[in-house]
This record gives sequence, structure tokens and C-alpha cells, in this order.
Amino acid sequence: MPLLQLKDVSKRFGQVVVANGVSLQLEAGDAVGIVGPNGAGKTTLFSMIAGDVKVDAGEILFKGRPITRAAVAARCRAGIGRTYQIPLPFEHLSVFENALVAVHQGARVHGLEGSERALDALVRTGLIDLANRPAGALGLLHRKRLELARALATGPELLLLDEIAGGLTDLEVVELTEVIRGIRADGVTIVWIEHVVRALLSTVDRLVCLAGGELVADGSPREVLNSEAVRRVYLGGAIINEAVS
Ligand SMILES: Nc1ncnc2c1ncn2[C@@H]1O[C@H](COP(=O)(O)OP(=O)(O)OP(=O)(O)O)[C@@H](O)[C@H]1O
Ligand SMILES: [Mg+2]
Repeated sequence: MPLLQLKDVSKRFGQVVVANGVSLQLEAGDAVGIVGPNGAGKTTLFSMIAGDVKVDAGEILFKGRPITRAAVAARCRAGIGRTYQIPLPFEHLSVFENALVAVHQGARVHGLEGSERALDALVRTGLIDLANRPAGALGLLHRKRLELARALATGPELLLLDEIAGGLTDLEVVELTEVIRGIRADGVTIVWIEHVVRALLSTVDRLVCLAGGELVADGSPREVLNSEAVRRVYLGGAIINEAVS
């Protein structure tokens, strides 16, 4: 049974069509990258999967069960975790407390087991030495790591990463990519929206391209990056040259 299925999902904001009959299927253990120009509907796709945005039409199934109308908290407890394009931690809470809130809210696990889960998320994301630091004092790389830690702390089977590498230096991207590969090796299914294609290519084995709310390509990274449809979408853009050079 597929881990996640989107069937003919459509969504518009006023006149803007952000999903036009999108169908997508993921198997457990997949690592899939999502590319596409700004405004393509990538973040909205995550929001529809995680429940922050309701679909206008179509169906979403997780582990074979319809979740199309389920609340965010229910989807999170079912095993869907996400990071946000703009990290918004609780600035005045410590790094550990931020992870703990995610365990309490997202997994409903409390007490010693909850604390252990929060610590484990910090170890896996390389933040354990900063556990007592206020989140507001963190630089961008550590904020991105905390974003990952909070999502991991909810115990996801499916992890949706929204431009987690955006704004980082090349070296920082490499460091973060290693963390993500480790998470995948632990058995978590990954869907990763990213403009930093090099980072994606080192991690994913399938690429999907969204443009204007339509899925214009889906296949192996080489196939997708070399496809006519994607070349048209990125006409004159850097993505192809960067990726195939
Ligand atoms: N809540 C909302 N209300 C109205 N319009 C929205 C809303 N969220 C997104 N949009 C619009 O929908 C379109 C798709 O936005 P979305 O954030 O999904 O794109 P994206 O592919 O993630 O882009 P980027 O690469 O810039 O992050 C954009 O035109 C955006 O302005
Ligand atoms: Mg986005």
C-alpha cells in the first residue's frame, strides 16, 4: 500500500490556481525532491498534505486512509511531519523546550519518554550542545536544524521539508544534507522542496516538478531535469545548468 496518495487534488486562491488535478503517489522509504519556480504551488501542496490548507477537490490518503478533511493535529499524530519555509520557533523557549513542545503537541507523549524523545531529536539534528540556548539566539543554520528537530520530535513516518537549505552557505547545506540523509536511513520517508538542486540530487532518487499548480514531470532526477517540460519551465533559469554541470 502506498504511504501517501494524492488523487486529483485541486486548489485555488481567488483567481490563482495552485493545484490543478495533482495526483502523486509515494511509497514508504521514498526520498522525493520537489522543484518548481516561485509561486508554483509547492508550499501549498505541503499545506494540503499536512492539513494547514483545505483542498477544493480531490482526495488525500495516508497509509490507505482518507485524511482529506482531517485536522492538522490528527495528521501529525498519524505520522505526517513538516518543516516551514520560514522557521518560527518559540524564541524565548530553549532549544530543548521547543523540541519538547513538539513532542507534547505532535505526539502527545509526556513525562520521561517525552523528554527522551525531545533529546533524541536534538541529538539527531546535531543540536544537543545548544539544548539550553534560547531559540531566539540561534543563527540561520541552527534555526533550520531546530525546524528539523521539531518535526522529528513528532515522530513522523513522512517528513515534508520546505526549503530547509534555503539561505545557507554551501558548507552548511552539505552539513544539513548529511542530517537529512541520516533521517532517511532511519526509515523516514522524505519529500523535500528545494531550489538548491545540488543538495536534492545528493539525497533524493525521484524528482517532481510543479509549475502553475500542475505536475509537469515526475521521475528519476536525470529524466526530470532533462525533460522538455522542465526545460521549458526553467527557460533561462539556473536550475538545469547548475544540476547537470
Ligand atoms: N493563503 C494564501 N492565500 C492566498 N494566496 C496564496 C496563499 N498561499 C499561497 N498563495 C499564492 O499561491 C501561489 C502559490 O504559492 P506557494 O507558496 O504554494 O508557492 P511555492 O511554489 O511554494 O513558491 P516559493 O518557491 O516562492 O516558495 C502564489 O501565487 C501565492 O501568492
Ligand atoms: Mg514555498
